[in-house]
Amino acid sequence: MPTLATTVDGLNLPNPFVIGSGPPGTNLNVITRAFREGWGAVIAKTVSLDSSKVVNVAPRYAKFHALDRKDIVGWENIELISDRPFNIWLDEFKKCKDQHPDGVLIASIMEEYNRDAWTEIVERCEGAGVDSFELNFSCPHGLPERKMGAAMGENPEVVEEVCGWVMSVAKKPVWAKMTPNVTRIAEPSRAAFRGGCQGVSAINTIRSIMSVNLETLRPEPTVEGFTTPGGYSGKAVRPIALRMVMEIATMIRSEFPGRSLSGIGGIESGDDAAQFILLGADTTQVCTGVMKFGYESVKRMCDELLAFMEKHKFETLADFKGKSLDYFTTHAELVRMQGERKAKEKAAAAEKAAAAEAPQKMVAADGEWSGDDFVKQSDALARG
Ligand SMILES: Cc1cc2nc3c(=O)[nH]c(=O)nc-3n(C[C@H](O)[C@H](O)[C@H](O)COP(=O)(O)O)c2cc1C
Repeated sequence: MPTLATTVDGLNLPNPFVIGSGPPGTNLNVITRAFREGWGAVIAKTVSLDSSKVVNVAPRYAKFHALDRKDIVGWENIELISDRPFNIWLDEFKKCKDQHPDGVLIASIMEEYNRDAWTEIVERCEGAGVDSFELNFSCPHGLPERKMGAAMGENPEVVEEVCGWVMSVAKKPVWAKMTPNVTRIAEPSRAAFRGGCQGVSAINTIRSIMSVNLETLRPEPTVEGFTTPGGYSGKAVRPIALRMVMEIATMIRSEFPGRSLSGIGGIESGDDAAQFILLGADTTQVCTGVMKFGYESVKRMCDELLAFMEKHKFETLADFKGKSLDYFTTHAELVRMQGERKAKEKAAAAEKAAAAEAPQKMVAADGEWSGDDFVKQSDALARG
């Protein structure tokens, strides 16, 4: 019987399914629900020291439906980080760890470009008992206007510096969460590892505009007649997330072996998670999936991942982590390999045709009769 249990950066997870930072980890009530349902770990909604600067609007979500309107393919949000006071969060972190001492609770933190603010938030969260950190360098809307989130994450020098500040005080493992809104995601990821982080998470949401209303001519989600570009998530982003995870995992394998990777983006099933792990992820985060299917979906996803492992006779996640990375190459190499195969097939076909046309040697003694050439041998003797 395979096991989903895994240890990542010293954290013992019963399974790789982690609640991604966002509404599904937005207060103690929902975090404890996630632990009760069996999630491997919970990353709380991103917190900052001063929540008074965080003011949300409504509506702040917009959905992209499939043509039959039965499924939600993509999801845009213009939601900010948590608008709940930091002291309340510290109290809830403590209560959560009291109630679920074995549950892996990860604090997602974000601050301005200020060393004291980053070290203070790390130390106070550690004091409240959290098990590890995710640094939010990746929220694509609202916060960049304050030079936070993706405004930091798209600059590798800033990422390395801020990770260095955090690592100078953090006693718990730290993952840096990457923005996909860059050309080469391996560059800020590399910077996070140079800054000393144990792991990287990818991806956060992709900057997007959901739609323009053809009656009102207003872009959506519309707030007071206007909007601002938001972050796109859900299964529509999965192919992009898989590509980015592959790029980071390839970089980790060659430059930072042993560092960890948390895959995120459109994961809704055990099969989706298996693909991220095959491309090098240690854990798999789910945010929009929980908003679509609820906390109980973790049980289905665990069963699906176990079924995949049983089918391939994998006993542990390590047995298949990164296994599909070996099957990437350059386009030029694909052309070369395909040319080589076609040339081989052509040569084999020519050889077969030549053999078919060659005159059959006459049987000279009864021991020379063969089952394969029997008809031709009979024919040759008739002609001779
Ligand atoms: C409504 C909403 C709010 C989010 N808030 C945060 C946040 O506070 N901090 C963060 O790091 N990521 C946040 N995210 C991003 C998710 O954690 C995740 O990186 C992204 O949505 C892609 O994964 P998914 O397709 O499973 O949702 C949010 C996503 C959504 C949909």
